[in-house]
Amino acid sequence: MQITNHATNQTEATRVSATSAESAVIRVEDVHKYYELGETRVHALRGVSVEVQRGEFVAVMGASGSGKSTFMNILGCLDRPSSGRYLLEGVDVLQHDKRALALIRNQKIGFVFQGFNLLARTTALENTELPTLYSKIGKEERHKRAVEALALVGLADRAEHFPAQMSGGQQQRVAVARALVNRPSILLADEPTGNLDSRTSVEIMGVFQDLNDKGLTIVMVTHEHDIAEFAKRVLVFRDGKIRKDEPVRGRPRAAEVLKTLPTLED
Ligand SMILES: Nc1ncnc2c1ncn2[C@@H]1O[C@H](COP(=O)(O)OP(=O)(O)OP(=O)(O)O)[C@@H](O)[C@H]1O
Ligand SMILES: [Mg+2]
Repeated sequence: MQITNHATNQTEATRVSATSAESAVIRVEDVHKYYELGETRVHALRGVSVEVQRGEFVAVMGASGSGKSTFMNILGCLDRPSSGRYLLEGVDVLQHDKRALALIRNQKIGFVFQGFNLLARTTALENTELPTLYSKIGKEERHKRAVEALALVGLADRAEHFPAQMSGGQQQRVAVARALVNRPSILLADEPTGNLDSRTSVEIMGVFQDLNDKGLTIVMVTHEHDIAEFAKRVLVFRDGKIRKDEPVRGRPRAAEVLKTLPTLED
């Protein structure tokens, strides 16, 4: 029984009890990241501290090379900080090994990238289902979740389409559905509109705002001010540090903006 108690205490010890930290989905404390490249050492993050609460929608901006993707990869448990602390829903991520991290990532986080990374010979539904293959849920439940996720991004009627039979915006929506299929609490998106025209970008922001309204926490990198405005809060990185952290005032609704933009197709 001693052993059980000990194990429980250890788990408790990795949790944080302060109330603000409890409600913070993401808490980053003085994180540094060095990349070693042969003789040279790149100091990509230089003391980043930030908290993101449940239900926030954060845009991350900053010049090329300022550390945005490095930051996102750490948030997404794809990489580890060189020093500092990262608490994800109160869990100290650095206390876990690679396998445990992969599990946490799979359960808590959905990732969307600039390139949609869909499998070409695979339908929208099958692409969406992919991340569930690594979990223990049964075939029927997997199918059900994929159908649900496609419906969430407004693509219920495109389930049997292959990527080549869809527009760029639709392909990115499939990528978002795929990121949501394991029902994560956080969506991380690194330049999700980087390959899209402006109307389609606003469409994707509409999808993000709807998901955020339903309670999903979103952190998104973008280079474009008009896109960042759809978020509730903007962080600006410079030289590996957060230089600005401001709420967005007079945030536009993507659905409204879309009405003012010319349509290309339909
Ligand atoms: N795997 C790596 N190995 C070595 N250096 C890296 C690696 N990844 C990034 N860097 C360096 O770290 C710094 C931050 O890179 P990062 O990719 O985070 O920038 P970014 O803000 O996402 O830029 P961009 O807007 O161009 O995507 C850069 O100087 C970059 O060259
Ligand atoms: Mg980047």
